[in-house]
Amino acid sequence: MIQKPKGTYDLLPSETQKYRALENHLFKLLENYGYGEIRTPIFEHSNVFHRDSEFSDMVLKETYNFKDKGNRDLTLRPEGTAGVIRSYVEEKLYAKEEITKLYYLGPNFRYERPQKGRYRQFYQFGIEAVGAKSPSLDAEVVNLSYKIITSLGLKQVKIKINTLGDIESRKKYNDTLITYFTPFKEQLCDNCQQRLNNNPMRILDCKIDNKKDFVKKAPKPKDYLTPEAAKYFSDVLRYLNAMDVIYEVDDSLVRGLDYYGHTVFEVEASIKGFGAHNILGGGGHYEKLISEFGGPNLSGVGVAFGMERLMQAIEAEKIQLPAEKQFDFYLLYFDEKTKIAALKILSELRDLGYKGDINHLDKKFSNQLKRALRFNPKYLIIIGEEELNNNTYTVKDVKTEEQVTIDYEQLLKKLGNK
Ligand code: HAM
Repeated sequence: MIQKPKGTYDLLPSETQKYRALENHLFKLLENYGYGEIRTPIFEHSNVFHRDSEFSDMVLKETYNFKDKGNRDLTLRPEGTAGVIRSYVEEKLYAKEEITKLYYLGPNFRYERPQKGRYRQFYQFGIEAVGAKSPSLDAEVVNLSYKIITSLGLKQVKIKINTLGDIESRKKYNDTLITYFTPFKEQLCDNCQQRLNNNPMRILDCKIDNKKDFVKKAPKPKDYLTPEAAKYFSDVLRYLNAMDVIYEVDDSLVRGLDYYGHTVFEVEASIKGFGAHNILGGGGHYEKLISEFGGPNLSGVGVAFGMERLMQAIEAEKIQLPAEKQFDFYLLYFDEKTKIAALKILSELRDLGYKGDINHLDKKFSNQLKRALRFNPKYLIIIGEEELNNNTYTVKDVKTEEQVTIDYEQLLKKLGNK
């Protein structure tokens, strides 16, 4: 038997229906905020993700890279932001609107060790508001993340926020971290020893090292902010307060990707028994990404949620998403003649927008009935010899067990408006 690749999963109809309900909920929310959907390729030229300035672990080690038959270096996207910004620049969206508001949903690929809540193929739902450096725009994206949680009814989920400051603040802070961590180099994990000189902030985010005392006591970004960067962050918080967003400032939050500056935030679940991978979403402000792709010197801000983790949180908190559309009817027949009549009415009712089905396998009536009930239809529509001769339908309400024989007009009335 051929099995699915490690770190992937199949979604069967009972689960896709829940995801569809979640997706529809998110899309509706986003459209209300004036965001439009963007779809970018699942693979991109590798340098979309492997840019000079970006040497995060995820990008270096965890991507699926391959050469196509034309010897091009391509990479399956590990996240949404880089591809969206590549498209923003290539399609010159900056020339159309001052601020471009986009959202996306799709699979991403990271070669990580699979665990509960961590997959090699996972879905992200993301938002990017691109074109302006504005504390209120950062606040809007944090607010949207907050609305995503609260509109779903998630209670044990909170927003943690921090600032990394502007370029000058980050340079000062990075230099301080290198000086601080160098005497501890031997005590760092292998990965962090390599991170020390080019990306010391990631040490603070390392699952192995961040439990060590000297890492916990490391200097914090907030102590190295320029006055402008400090004001930017206090403005973001002021706007969040004005919008009644509940958040927690976490001065050790740094995030795993390298393109961030100023605001960074994460959406964290503290649901009992949730497991280690409890960050449902994360995002922040980026200043250099657009110019790195050859675009103008503009900023953006965004967030992405892991759909599997969001669903895991919804299930852990026992939140009911809108139910699957119930079958309006199921057709039952007796022989070839009544089957033909049943197929005709099945096709007509489906054209009118009703959801229904028939058993194609010519099973005995009792078998058809047993299997029909598994689909939980509202009505059973039975066509026998008598119904065929009189142009009528016997309709049984599955719940009340009430049964009537009626004509076509009455049948439509009974099934209700579509
Ligand atoms: P990220 O923190 O790398 O950020 O990923 C965002 C979310 O994707 C995570 O919080 C998590 O829920 C989910 N996720 C990441 N890796 C996995 C995995 N292997 N399995 C399951 N879920 C996963 C970004 O990707 C940024 N592009 C977010 C962003 C948008 N920043 C600005 N705009």
